[in-house]
Amino acid sequence: MLKTLALWVLGIFIFLQFVHIDIPEPPASIDPDKEIKAPPKIMAILKRSCYDCHSYETKMPWYGYISPVSLEVESHIKEGRKAVNFQEWEAYDEAKKERIYQGIAKTIRFRMPLPMYLMIHDEAKLTRQERETIAAWAKSHIKEEDQP
Ligand code: HEC
Repeated sequence: MLKTLALWVLGIFIFLQFVHIDIPEPPASIDPDKEIKAPPKIMAILKRSCYDCHSYETKMPWYGYISPVSLEVESHIKEGRKAVNFQEWEAYDEAKKERIYQGIAKTIRFRMPLPMYLMIHDEAKLTRQERETIAAWAKSHIKEEDQP
């Protein structure tokens, strides 16, 4: 009974490895001028805690390629880059930038970086102070009439 179960689990696991994962490749050339410009302190936090999902500089852990983890990782990277790509920043119009600054101010306390990601990425954890720093920076870019 237990053996049958184990075989099933193993079978499903092996089957899952054939599910094609498609981590989007970064473009052949990345225009450095398009990257967001922020004070060094902010850039350091963004790079450490956000770039895996919100830039082309994704550092993939080895288990990131193993299904079913890979499916989750793939969707985070795809959806994350779609929501904000800090290396495509200067291609966004002012309205979009402001929407993202608002999004950052709104999500930095709890939702971002994704809690599931933080469980396995100690280095990306932010202190309360760092979260406040990011929130203040984002808010400073939001027009007065749109302040939350
Ligand atoms: C593990 C991947 C991952 C990391 C790391 C991550 N994000 Fe995200 N982020 C996502 C995904 C996926 C979405 C789109 C789905 C959603 O909104 O939950 C998103 C959406 C967003 C949005 C748009 C949300 C909205 O409602 O407007 C903002 C802003 C954002 N992230 C900022 C950040 C910042 C700032 C950091 C770093 C402090 C960060 N993210 C780290 C995956 C990530």
